[in-house]
Amino acid sequence: MKGIVFTEFLDLVEDKFGLEMVDSIISNSNLKSEGVYTSVGTYEFSEMLQLLNNLSENTNISTDDLLQVYAEHFFSVIKRSYSGILQMYSDPIEMLASIENHIHVEVKKIYPDAELPTFQVLEKTPNLLVLIYKSSRAMHAFGLGLMNKTFEHFNETATIEFEKLNDVATEVKFIIKKN
Ligand code: HEM
Repeated sequence: MKGIVFTEFLDLVEDKFGLEMVDSIISNSNLKSEGVYTSVGTYEFSEMLQLLNNLSENTNISTDDLLQVYAEHFFSVIKRSYSGILQMYSDPIEMLASIENHIHVEVKKIYPDAELPTFQVLEKTPNLLVLIYKSSRAMHAFGLGLMNKTFEHFNETATIEFEKLNDVATEVKFIIKKN
């Protein structure tokens, strides 16, 4: 997992819960990196899982809820650092339908070692998009936060439902309806 995901996560934890919480979740984890991240580095995904699980225990907020809020913050990072990609879109459905064939392709050019999910388009009309998310990292809640922010970015809203296709949520179906 790319360092930018860790640095932005710890910034948000500090912002919302304070520096002591950052220290606590790092010291309660067993981290090869010792909790020192640079935005261009690459670190084990298991480090993110430990940090998230510790934060969840300390705050009584589920890891999925934490991931969704984190994704909403991460969208502002995307706006700041990858505005060129966003500017190619004028419609949220078009943008979300293009994660697989365009957006994450561009991300791979920037970070060849990025570990990205796949998003298969099952159905697409101007107001409806059905996607299948697949990733061993089971971060569909991160996807949900980014999807909500994508609609907000274009001054639109949507009703987004999802269905886990297996117990471990490595495959999730999203049904996205523009309001
Ligand atoms: C992961 C970039 C849009 C869904 C990531 C990562 C980056 C990234 C850098 C981390 C990869 C790693 O740590 O190795 C971007 C950029 C975008 C964009 C620059 C737009 C310009 C989206 C959108 C979605 C999305 C709109 C909506 C669903 C995800 C998910 C992950 C991810 C779910 C977590 C990894 C996983 O589930 O396996 N993205 N992304 N991304 N992205 Fe994107």
